[in-house]
Amino acid sequence: MALRDRLAADERHGEDHDLAKMYRERLLEEIDVDELARLSPSQRRVRLERVLSRILSVDGPVLSARERSALVQRITDDALGLGVLEPLLADESITEIMVNGPHDVFIERYGKVERVPARFASVEQLYQTIDRIVSQVNRRVDESSPMVDARLPSGERVNVIIPPLALDGPTLTIRRFPTPFRMGELVDRGTLDLSTASLLGACVRARLNIVVSGGTGSGKTTFLNALSGQIPEHERIVTIEDAAELSLQQGHVVRLESRPANVEGRGAVAIRDLVRNALRMRPDRIIVGEVRGGETLDMLQAMNTGHDGSVATVHANTARDALGRLETLASMSELDLPAATLRDQINSAIDLVVHLERAQDGSRRVIEVQAVTSQRREEYALTPLMRFVGDPIGPDRTVSGEFVRSAAPWELVERLQRAGETLPQVVEPSVAGPVEAPGGAR
Ligand SMILES: Nc1ncnc2c1ncn2[C@@H]1O[C@H](COP(=O)(O)OP(=O)(O)OP(=O)(O)O)[C@@H](O)[C@H]1O
Ligand SMILES: [Mg+2]
Repeated sequence: MALRDRLAADERHGEDHDLAKMYRERLLEEIDVDELARLSPSQRRVRLERVLSRILSVDGPVLSARERSALVQRITDDALGLGVLEPLLADESITEIMVNGPHDVFIERYGKVERVPARFASVEQLYQTIDRIVSQVNRRVDESSPMVDARLPSGERVNVIIPPLALDGPTLTIRRFPTPFRMGELVDRGTLDLSTASLLGACVRARLNIVVSGGTGSGKTTFLNALSGQIPEHERIVTIEDAAELSLQQGHVVRLESRPANVEGRGAVAIRDLVRNALRMRPDRIIVGEVRGGETLDMLQAMNTGHDGSVATVHANTARDALGRLETLASMSELDLPAATLRDQINSAIDLVVHLERAQDGSRRVIEVQAVTSQRREEYALTPLMRFVGDPIGPDRTVSGEFVRSAAPWELVERLQRAGETLPQVVEPSVAGPVEAPGGAR
């Protein structure tokens, strides 16, 4: 937008802003706040809209029906809480809202990021919105604590970072947790093929320790959630996360969430404290949302001391890199263990690495499933069970290709057999489609 147009738009916005502010104050004078608090969010909106329409028809400016309903919506959005963000939050197809300063709002929808016309009237208004969000979780944002994680009452995860750390103004990132995908839905979407899904299901039921790896936003948490769906119903599952995102369907799930320090810098509870505590809770399975530091060592030790069947995610660029990352993270614990000892722990603990990638076209895919076949202190050795082989990218930029399975090492086959699981057959992709395996993918 040319600077002149932008200034003109700002000016128009300013007028609207004054109008909205004036009627918002009138609205707040007329409504009964206590009564409003007892209503459900949708009833609240209806009530506010009704009162506001009455005020506007008695002494509002002359407006066209469209202007009038836009004004009503704007004021209600403001009064309800998150202002210009409210309509975006109400849109279920939006999975991420990114605010880079007051005038730049982007959303992610179906894996694609786009700019939307929503904008805050001023930087102050953006700060007000941020304050509303973080005060709900008893935190505050200011120069002394310029980065905060919070959560909306409706469950969305929010990150705030403000100047001087964020150079272009207060920056807000809201991630919505869409209804979690089940394994079958991931197969339908092409995230992996049915045969690999069946194999992984068998591995979960046979209590293999599995690491899900991938880059930022590659779908690790989503996949972890779907994979956990394969855990038998009667088992006691303890989930440990920084910001609870997982939503397991089983009946016996204990969810633990770490806690940052309060404003006085006290009371922090780290993932690592929770992992240690979980061991005393008689878990059948421990699921760690993401390992990021020294807790990795506790998790490996748990996996090696009878708590098998555990699953975690780690940020890494390849399946092999995931093992290296685990080693680095485990070395961040206060125990100063030699690399060979850590390798020993990792070789004994981890059975399988499932690596995901977010492709150029926004699609997420399992691109490698690797069995860890090295033992003791040996250098890491991985045996591929499945690899995604991509076709050359065509003019429409969409990614396609084939999931190519290879024969599993005999140790794995035996282990699955001992657990009463059959290994889904390896089928040449060019000869036949995926085979349905016992147990199904869902
Ligand atoms: N297989 C998939 N198909 C389509 N969309 C997906 C898939 N997996 C994840 N998504 C979407 O991608 C976004 C990021 O997913 P997710 O949080 O699982 O990724 P992540 O790797 O755990 O991210 P982070 O690095 O932030 O932890 C979410 O909006 C999610 O709904
Ligand atoms: Mg994640």
